[in-house]
Amino acid sequence: MAFKQDKFAEVIKEFTVGTEALKEIAANFRQDLKLGLKNPDDSSLRMLKSYVGLPTGKEKGEYLALDFGGTNVRVLRIRLEGAGKYEVVKRVGKPLKVDGIYDYVGLGSKCEDMFDFLAGLIDEAVDGDHQTKFLLGHTFSFPSEQTNLDNAKLIIWTKEFATEGVEGKVVNDLLRDALKRKGVDNVEPVAVINDTVAVLLSAAYKQDDTRIGSIYATGHNTCYLEPYADKAEPPMILNLESGGFSKLAPNRYDKMLDEASEKPGEQRLEKMVSGRYMGELFSMGLAILYDDARWRYGFTSIDMSGIIADSSPDKSEVVRIVSGRVGKEPDAAECADIQKLAKVILTRSVRLVTATFVGILWQLAGEGKLGRQHIAVDGSVYEKMPGAKEGIMATLQELLGEDAAEVDTILDNGGSGLGAAIAAAMAEG
Ligand code: BGC
Repeated sequence: MAFKQDKFAEVIKEFTVGTEALKEIAANFRQDLKLGLKNPDDSSLRMLKSYVGLPTGKEKGEYLALDFGGTNVRVLRIRLEGAGKYEVVKRVGKPLKVDGIYDYVGLGSKCEDMFDFLAGLIDEAVDGDHQTKFLLGHTFSFPSEQTNLDNAKLIIWTKEFATEGVEGKVVNDLLRDALKRKGVDNVEPVAVINDTVAVLLSAAYKQDDTRIGSIYATGHNTCYLEPYADKAEPPMILNLESGGFSKLAPNRYDKMLDEASEKPGEQRLEKMVSGRYMGELFSMGLAILYDDARWRYGFTSIDMSGIIADSSPDKSEVVRIVSGRVGKEPDAAECADIQKLAKVILTRSVRLVTATFVGILWQLAGEGKLGRQHIAVDGSVYEKMPGAKEGIMATLQELLGEDAAEVDTILDNGGSGLGAAIAAAMAEG
């Protein structure tokens, strides 16, 4: 299994997006936003209504927050103190899948088992108290069609979730039934929101001038506050489901990955940018370089972080991670190329995500000037991938020129939980 140095330039080129192409993507994203506002069927963005606007920052009281949408589920008891202040009183969390022990998300897993697991975690968070009434906000991080703040029906699983019997169902009804089965019906779900919405609520609770919220993690998605300036409707946060954006130019790796995924044809942007998939793209690129027909080396985005971050002279981390997955030690020249491959895949991801932010910023500015604002972002890729945050800022500058000075991104760590509590308070209030 020799390393094909001559293929390197080609692979790198396939993952490179230049400025003009990127500007076009931002413009197409804005166009899809406009189309979606008129009729979501004409857009690759689902533009889902959340039935909630921004908080005042004065919301108060103690609420339960269920944060469900990635590999780990968390339940928190959060005391909102108003003035943008809060305290986490209790926190419990468990993974949805432990290899060889249980799996609530893989093929063959069942709806009731999954929701019983969630109810069990909620029971832990209330310390088995089956008397006191608790209002619960639920951050449910999948495309859901809402009719009000409490009623959200799962349209389709993403992020390779495959649990049977949940698609098409109202998730808080499933949760209520499970709570009843556990005897925890003193807990009342009152709000359900997407994690992007949660991040925006959480950031806006603490700070003004935030109208865009994004998750850049296992999955990817963005929401924004639609002002409905020319309509009588009050401003409302729209969950774009931007991971479904499809006016892109996928390369052969993107196509291969999509075909092998749980839901081919869906989530085209997400499959090019998010943490769940970047490691797979990296595996495929590396397989081409090794001229190896297999591409399932199993690299993760955490591996990619380790590879990118390795600044040691002997590239010991790169050697360790790559030989662990591929079964072959790369030499010094190969290590340098492997590191470049990881960087170029991350860079493409960052640039595409930023182009979608710019599409939203352009849409919000309309014919006028871009207002001063923050984009609230949460997620492991944004927080932990070396250079991701800086890459977003550089790309904003590249696409917006001097207007980029008006915008920054802020990390809203833990926004998924806090946002759920705020949504519960807003539902009550
Ligand atoms: C889901 C979104 C979610 C995002 C981040 C995507 O797969 O479709 O609803 O916001 O992941 O968790």
